Amino acid sequence: MITRIMDVSQEPINMENIREAAEILKNGGLVAFPTETVYGLGGDATDKEASRKIYQAKGRPSDNPLIVHIAKFSQLEQITSDLPENAKLLADAFWPGPLTMVCNKNQVIPYETTGGLDTVAVRMPNNPVALALIEESGCMIAAPSANTSGRPSPTKAEHVYQDLSGKIEAILDGGAVDIGLESTIVDLTEDVVTILRPGFINMDMLKEVVGEVRIDPGIVYNDKGTTEGAKPKAPGMRYKHYAPKGDLTIISGQEDKVVSTINKMTKQAIQNGQKVGIIATSATRDRYEAGEVLVIGDRDDEGSIAHNLYDILRQFDELDVDVIFSESFATPKMGQAIMNRLLKAAGQKTIEVG
Ligand code: TXA
Ligand code: MG
Repeated sequence: MITRIMDVSQEPINMENIREAAEILKNGGLVAFPTETVYGLGGDATDKEASRKIYQAKGRPSDNPLIVHIAKFSQLEQITSDLPENAKLLADAFWPGPLTMVCNKNQVIPYETTGGLDTVAVRMPNNPVALALIEESGCMIAAPSANTSGRPSPTKAEHVYQDLSGKIEAILDGGAVDIGLESTIVDLTEDVVTILRPGFINMDMLKEVVGEVRIDPGIVYNDKGTTEGAKPKAPGMRYKHYAPKGDLTIISGQEDKVVSTINKMTKQAIQNGQKVGIIATSATRDRYEAGEVLVIGDRDDEGSIAHNLYDILRQFDELDVDVIFSESFATPKMGQAIMNRLLKAAGQKTIEVG
């Protein structure tokens, strides 16, 4: 199969391309499309066959459920049962936007889409291309991130092409995404709203709307790098996640000490014949004395760090580095989401330098 790339990066959106992509979806095919978080790999959420194709194209285990993307709140009511009051409150506050809600499903969405679960994850993306595609196709679109399973989520159409070229019908190229990390997932099926995956919508923002919020204990790591026993409730958070080819270690602590430690470790690694990558910020870049230094962003602009993280990890794979040293980014608002992804990529390996 030849994967077509269709440009939708200019305003006004090229509706010809949206209509062609919508036709592919209506005929049971797959189209990758931009959202405000990461690119999604879309198929008709009500079509079992389309969901099977999505798992196959990604090489994803079929017990890891897909997120259903909608364009109207009434579509959430159409596919769920016993919708809690909190769903309405959260949708009013954050939709369209980077929040996915897990609710009890009815029979409209097949088990092939929900990985066999009786619940369904739903979100209304805040991206004009994604919304136009949902509306034009008349489909609710099942879409996981559009990467090969085990690689970082794609934040540019090129990333999708690297992973899925020849395996899907088309890619709508809307340029680089905005946020760069996957949506926050909340479970609404229990009494207390529970965060299953941290994202741009953080704990404080959720608390302002629904009061009490907790975080799934299965995704909270202690300083030994393990969780307190429980398995994560979102199946996707259980899998061994993306690990870069290079062995990644996070160095955290006071900036001067972090820089000098990374410089020391880099020198040592180079002496041992290893190729070293360093994840720096615009403020520290010039203080690193050796290695391939990539700037993730500006510490005062945490959005830039989230935006560039996955692209940087892909770049280090291409540079074929043996080891990667990264600064730590426990920033005020998105820090939990950023560190959740970075720590996973590092297999929880952190060095504290005080
Ligand atoms: O930002 C995003 O959420 C992107 C864009 C494309 O919307 N999508 C995304 O999908 O990140 P994916 O498939 O890579 O991650 C979906 C996560 C997985 O961890 C999956 O296990 C979880 O959502 N999930 C889906 N349905 C669920 C359910 N019914 N209960 C619990 N977790 C669920
Ligand atoms: Mg994913």
